[in-house]
Order: sequence, then C-alpha cells, then structure tokens
Amino acid sequence: MIVTTKKLFEAAYGKYAIGAYNINNLEQCMGLFRGNLESQAPFIIQISKGARKYTDKRMLEAIIRAADEIFPDAIFAVHLDHGDEETCMDAIESGFYSSVMIDASHEDFETNIAITRRVVEAAHARGIVVEAELGQLGGVEEHVSVDESNAKLTDPDNAKEFVERTGCDSLAVAIGTSHGAFKFTGNQTLRFDVLAEIQKRLPGFPLVMHGSSSVPQEEVERINRAGGNLKGAKGVDENQFRRAAELGVTKVNIDTDGRLVWTRVHREYFRDHPEEIDMRPIGKIFMAEYAKFIAHKNEKLGSAGRL
Ligand code: G3H
Ligand code: 13P
Ligand code: NA
Ligand code: ZN
Repeated sequence: MIVTTKKLFEAAYGKYAIGAYNINNLEQCMGLFRGNLESQAPFIIQISKGARKYTDKRMLEAIIRAADEIFPDAIFAVHLDHGDEETCMDAIESGFYSSVMIDASHEDFETNIAITRRVVEAAHARGIVVEAELGQLGGVEEHVSVDESNAKLTDPDNAKEFVERTGCDSLAVAIGTSHGAFKFTGNQTLRFDVLAEIQKRLPGFPLVMHGSSSVPQEEVERINRAGGNLKGAKGVDENQFRRAAELGVTKVNIDTDGRLVWTRVHREYFRDHPEEIDMRPIGKIFMAEYAKFIAHKNEKLGSAGRL
C-alpha cells in the first residue's frame, strides 16, 4: 500500500530511520519488495530523473503498481529523488508519487527558498509531501581546509529559517556524506556535531541523509576479483545509522550499495558461467541477493520488524 512519507516519519522519528532505495528496473523492484517484506520493514522507493528516462517513466510506475498488487502487505512511499522544479511539477500532477524532493541546493539561499516554496504550494494542494535540501553534499577531501569543508555542510541557523520560510516537510542535510562509491579519502565520519545542532533548532522535524551507502569493502573486493576496477571506494559506516536516527534522521538514501550488489552478482556469474545466454538464471540470483541486501540494511536502520 502506498502511504505518505509523513506517516512513516511520524512513527520513526527519534527511534529508527526508513530506508529510501533507488530502483531502475524490474529485478530491483522485485528484490526490493521481497527484502522489505522478509524483514517486515516499511520503505521508500525512490525514482530519480535518470530512472524515469531509462525506459519511460510509465514503465517504472506500472512495475511498482504491479508489485503493490503482488505484495499487498508492503507499506511504502513513492518518492521523486533529486527533482528539479519541472520534474517535481510533473510528478505532482501524475498523482502517482506520494512525495517529491525539490533539490535546489546548488542555488543561492534565497533562490533555493523561492523554488522550494513554489513546489511546496503545488504539492500540498494535492496532499503530496516535500523534501528539500540545504547545503552541498560532496566528498570532504583530506587536503581541503576545515573552513572550506565546513562551508559545504548545512548551517543549522539557516536550516531553521529555510524550513520556516519554505514550509517543506523534511530536510536533506549535508553532514559529511556524498553520493557515489568514493565518498572519503581519509577516515572521515559523519558530522554528528552539526546534526545535533540542526536537531536542536528543528526539534521533531524529519531530517534526511543522502549519500548513505556504506560501500562494503568485501563487495568491492569481490567485484575487483571478478574483473572490476573500483579502487579506493569507501562509504558511510552503517553502524552509525541508529545514532543519526536518534538525532532526527528519519530517511536514509541508499543507491550505490544496490548497484554494487548488481555488479558483483553479474561479474561473478558471467565469470563462472561463460556459456550462459539466458538472462533469467542470473536475474533470479540478483533478485535474491538484492532482497538479502535490503533486509540487512533495514536491520542496520532499525526499520526491520516495524510493519
Ligand atoms: O543521488 C543520485 C541517485 O543515486 C540516483 O542516481 O541519477 O544516476 O539515477 P541517478
Ligand atoms: P549513495 O550514492 O550513497 O547510495 O546515495 C544515494 C542518494 O543519496 C540518492 O539520493
Ligand atoms: Na543536491
Ligand atoms: Zn541523493
């Protein structure tokens, strides 16, 4: 059943975080539903602009609607990930998404507020909830001075003003994570000090952590042993999710780790089965491995067993 993130966040706040997983195809969708049901977790399906364009936005929508029928016990929200204003408006009009993210975080503060405000007005008129972003995600490099790296992080005072003036329902904050497989060059960790300051100014308000893949070293090694070339990949320690949840993080975005599962399964399978031309045996393995990965993440997020 499709629900709003608002409902999921109310139940989760301060206790656990909901996994927000990007999907692009049928096998990922099946694995996602199975993994969440196996671990009895509510979840968020995220669809990026790129995912909408990969085949046709109606294709993913149809797959998700079918999964909703196949798995009637699943409780999930359908969320547009990193939307621009035009894509947000399209998603709002479609009536399919229960929430949208407007990402105008690259704009200056006032422009970000103005764009976000317009999306909030359109979305709320249709009962759709809005995630916005303040601050810039990005790898915090060892050679960057503290001042420079701090400048990318979300400013707690600005966060309060931003939420009040935009009316957004949740806020993506930059607290030291970045997108993709190469997050940290050194032994960087999440900036819990900054997160605590944000929560102090926005008590009870749902915060979102992007760029939260953990890039497991074992996964990277298996990919590299099977012909891949991912050097120096590093991610967020998944044992830190619960502490982040206590500080107001209710949604944790994970995409890259799922891509690593896909890459490992396919590289190893074709290495070991050079004669294979049927896409179904490997598809079955991927769906099972992806489900296992989702269930594991939900344990770490604390969302497992909350259905
Ligand atoms: O933040 C980006 C997400 O990982 C989605 O990636 O735009 O390549 O689909 P994508
Ligand atoms: P990762 O690249 O760490 O998986 O982050 C995904 C994300 O933030 C999607 O919005
Ligand atoms: Na952004
Ligand atoms: Zn993101």
